[in-house]
Amino acid sequence: MPKKTSNKDPEEVKKTKIQTLLRGFRDILPEEQAIWDRVEEVAARLSNDYSYGRIRLPILEKRNLFERTIGKGTDIVEKELFAFEDQGGDKVAMRPEATAQIARAYIEHGMINKPQPVKLWYFGPMFRYDRPQAGRYRQFWQWGLEALGSDDSILDAQLILIIDRFFKELGLNVVFKINSLGTVETRREYVMELVSYFKQFRKKLSEVDKKRLTKNPLRLLDSKEEGMAELKVDAPQIVDWLDDDSKQHFMKVIEYLDEADVAYELDPFLVRGLDYYNRTVFEVVLASDDNSVAQNALGGGGRYDDLIPQLGGREEVGAIGAAIGIERVILAMKEKGIEFPKQRKVDVFFCQLGDAARRKGLLVFEEFRKASVSIAEAFGKGSLKAQLEAADKQGAKIALILGQKEVLDETIIVRDMDSGAQEIVDVKKVVEMVKKQLQK
Ligand code: HAM
Repeated sequence: MPKKTSNKDPEEVKKTKIQTLLRGFRDILPEEQAIWDRVEEVAARLSNDYSYGRIRLPILEKRNLFERTIGKGTDIVEKELFAFEDQGGDKVAMRPEATAQIARAYIEHGMINKPQPVKLWYFGPMFRYDRPQAGRYRQFWQWGLEALGSDDSILDAQLILIIDRFFKELGLNVVFKINSLGTVETRREYVMELVSYFKQFRKKLSEVDKKRLTKNPLRLLDSKEEGMAELKVDAPQIVDWLDDDSKQHFMKVIEYLDEADVAYELDPFLVRGLDYYNRTVFEVVLASDDNSVAQNALGGGGRYDDLIPQLGGREEVGAIGAAIGIERVILAMKEKGIEFPKQRKVDVFFCQLGDAARRKGLLVFEEFRKASVSIAEAFGKGSLKAQLEAADKQGAKIALILGQKEVLDETIIVRDMDSGAQEIVDVKKVVEMVKKQLQK
């Protein structure tokens, strides 16, 4: 058979490969920073307001940390882990989420000895080999909140409340879908019931769902495969299997939410894709009046009361947490037309003419920066006209103009951008003078 030949220059092929991003990965460019900063600022402020302390966790962990917490049969662990052997032969994985790490850190740093609950928050990138599409990436950022050391239902409600406030501050209307998964024991009984229910329809199930039936039957409930919506209607509902304590717990959470006026819907089929949950689980989605291309969850969370003991922690420790997908939040804000200034506004703009003025300009610029006056420059531009245009674009109130003559005289021209009035001043006094003028 003749060898396939490509008419592309091999050098060209090499270049394009290096010069493109990996699928599902993104650069977040300077134009986007204003909106990212705003989202992070609200997340950080709310976390602090509710006494959550920031924790910065590593990207890499031992692979089996995720296997033992999220669960071996889950999509996240089975299909989506970025995992490899490091140079020393250790099996490591890039974190697909941070709750497993939080549980590890809680045990490793003896946080059980601190006043409980221990409240932690994080903001950072996660990695999942997901199928990329709008709002779904292989590297994405999460804001997460975790409260460990208490099984009080008030914490469940407060966590939901914090997240609700976060979205309100950002201008998005959201609804919480909420369910209870009960305890490990009641869930086991429920799963048996679920399996026997779906077994009657085995022939109707897709290949994917057949697999779920044997490997992870709970996931049948949020299956989007054809025909499943009808089959699910009569499926047994987990709330009917709840033990009394879990029922009580759930009722209380709901009562608190009613009291706090949080918009929620009970969703008997919400099971979440991670194994560590018990009792309360929830997801947050855009309310229908905030329509969106990506109808994906903006965030999700729930209780994981058994996780710490399961990882070898000493005592029974209740815990609850949630994580919000930052890219999805930003996408929703953009779709709703919530805008942010693309460029930083400045008070002063420095213009220079000639090489000596440019050199001196570096120092003048530094004096203003040290005095905390917001100043910008365009050292790369030659003409005064272009520099004044740039000053205007950035909203500067004052332009400083330094030419050859001014360098020799140790002066500088101060121009009022509104009136066009100009004044020549002593360069040593210019910072103080401009500061006064800005205060007027
Ligand atoms: P999760 O539901 O897997 O939960 O992820 C939380 C949020 O992260 C999702 O609702 C979504 O907004 C975002 N997200 C997930 N995958 C992607 C992706 N491929 N691209 C973009 N965004 C994504 C957790 O991670 C749990 N650790 C939450 C938790 C904390 N439960 C208890 N504590």
